[in-house]
Amino acid sequence: MCTRKPTFTLIFFLLTLLLVPKFNVGSEGDDELKELLAVDEEVEREIAEGGGERLSEAEVLSKAQRIVVELNNDNTERVVNGNEFVLVLGYAPWCPRSAELMPHFAEAATSLKDLGAPLLMAKIDADRYPKSASFLGIKGFPTLLLFVNGTSQPYSGGFTVDDIVIWARKKTGAPVTRISSVAETEGFLRKYQTFIVGLFEKFEGPDYEEFVNAAKSDNETQFVAVSQLEVARVLYPNIKPTNHFIGIVKSEPERYTAYDGAFTKNKILEFVDYNKFPLVTKLTEMNSISVYSSPIKLQVLVFANFDDLKNLLEPLQDVARTFKSKIMLIYVDINDENLAKPFLTLFGLEDSKNTVVAAFDNGMSSKYLLESKPTQSNIEEFCNNLVQGSLSTYFKSQPIPDNTEASVRVIVGKTFDDEVLRSKKDVLLEVFTPWCMNCEATSKQVEKLAKHYKGSSNLIFARIDASANEHPKLEVNDYPTLLLFRADDKANPIELSTKSSLKDLAASINKYLKVKNQVVKDEL
Ligand SMILES: *[C@@H]1O[C@H](CO)[C@@H](O)[C@H](O)[C@H]1NC(C)=O
Ligand SMILES: *[C@@H]1O[C@H](CO)[C@@H](O)[C@H](O)[C@H]1NC(C)=O
Repeated sequence: MCTRKPTFTLIFFLLTLLLVPKFNVGSEGDDELKELLAVDEEVEREIAEGGGERLSEAEVLSKAQRIVVELNNDNTERVVNGNEFVLVLGYAPWCPRSAELMPHFAEAATSLKDLGAPLLMAKIDADRYPKSASFLGIKGFPTLLLFVNGTSQPYSGGFTVDDIVIWARKKTGAPVTRISSVAETEGFLRKYQTFIVGLFEKFEGPDYEEFVNAAKSDNETQFVAVSQLEVARVLYPNIKPTNHFIGIVKSEPERYTAYDGAFTKNKILEFVDYNKFPLVTKLTEMNSISVYSSPIKLQVLVFANFDDLKNLLEPLQDVARTFKSKIMLIYVDINDENLAKPFLTLFGLEDSKNTVVAAFDNGMSSKYLLESKPTQSNIEEFCNNLVQGSLSTYFKSQPIPDNTEASVRVIVGKTFDDEVLRSKKDVLLEVFTPWCMNCEATSKQVEKLAKHYKGSSNLIFARIDASANEHPKLEVNDYPTLLLFRADDKANPIELSTKSSLKDLAASINKYLKVKNQVVKDEL
């Protein structure tokens, strides 16, 4: 089984269920994989043999850094226990997510080597070497584990090349990059779009230590420390002369945000967490975990195609400014089947070609839909109501039908309250789905019952398609289901057996509703 990172929210959970792997693992895929897995055989041999013209630990380490070492039953224990830092990727050749991660891991290995990180990068085919994989504690694929002097800790960074490099450096003794000249800023700015800059007179003292501790604990953002004002100003212009300063820099209209809290690790981390995303974040498979685990639990998602977004982006950024730290604005490409569809399905809008604006309260797993046109002022009002808690939770519903001629009334999500719960009459509700096995037979019975009780003005027969309509009070998992909502106790519907004969159903209805004396015209 392939596994992904732990699920944090309902929505993320849904996504993991619905994400369709993009790779096929046919024979072509296998060739591609083999190429990705190609290792420097010389180094592999040296490590596997261990002896021969014996290399010192340091030499082995420095050689191995050039590539990713392939672990096997012979070398695993030695490599993991004999090095201070080893980042291990456990993979299975047939697992698509492994294949996706493999090239990022290899590229990160090269970058880390160039940076002189004291880290050995290794991978193990857990299918081929199950014993070693189990020794390492690898259960699903892909799994990344960092071994520090032989003890493992789970990987908690992102999955792009830069994400891996940033995380690995944080956890292997270089949580903060120091820049000491204007010249050095150039390369740094070319490489990093988002980073935290800290200006400290000296790289010591409690404030600086808290900054470094925050950098270590954080899992994804690059931290940079500077001691000269003129250098800091290249990274973050307009810093006032001060003995310490922290700010976040992002590549977007809201480029600079200064920190004005206390210099403690937790407060700095909170600042980073609330400010690291751009005004409008584009959802990707790479950032989805990070987005869903944001402390900002109110999330407004705009599903649009690229052309529509172009016109909407600036208005959205304005809205995002208004609700900064309260609402996260997220753009999802409406044509991206894997990312957009699972969400749109929740609203019955999976086939929509037009812009959809929806909101989630991840803390409560509630969903909301903007039902007016997605203009700036409507979106702003929608956000305002979301923050105030005054939006009504969205339930899927078909359009309100015309029931004038119907003997069995068609109920939809929007009419469930009025026609079932608030109706003064008894309601026998048939809950069905278009694909369920026995629904048709039950529907026929309900129609016959409706005819039979036609003279009974107090009993209404109704049906609802549960695949297209939702209501919080309609919690049914088996289809068909027959529910009898009595006029005097709408909160506790009685479930009637759909296996009963017509006669037994009528008898049950009579028993529960005491309609014995009512006129019953048709013979059953
Ligand atoms: C790993 O072990 C060595 C030798 O005992 C020690 O000097 C080093 O500090 C340890 N590394 C970490 C990160 O604990
Ligand atoms: C980094 O990841 C670890 C492991 O998932 C988690 O315990 C920790 O809270 C994360 N750090 C921050 C600052 O979120």
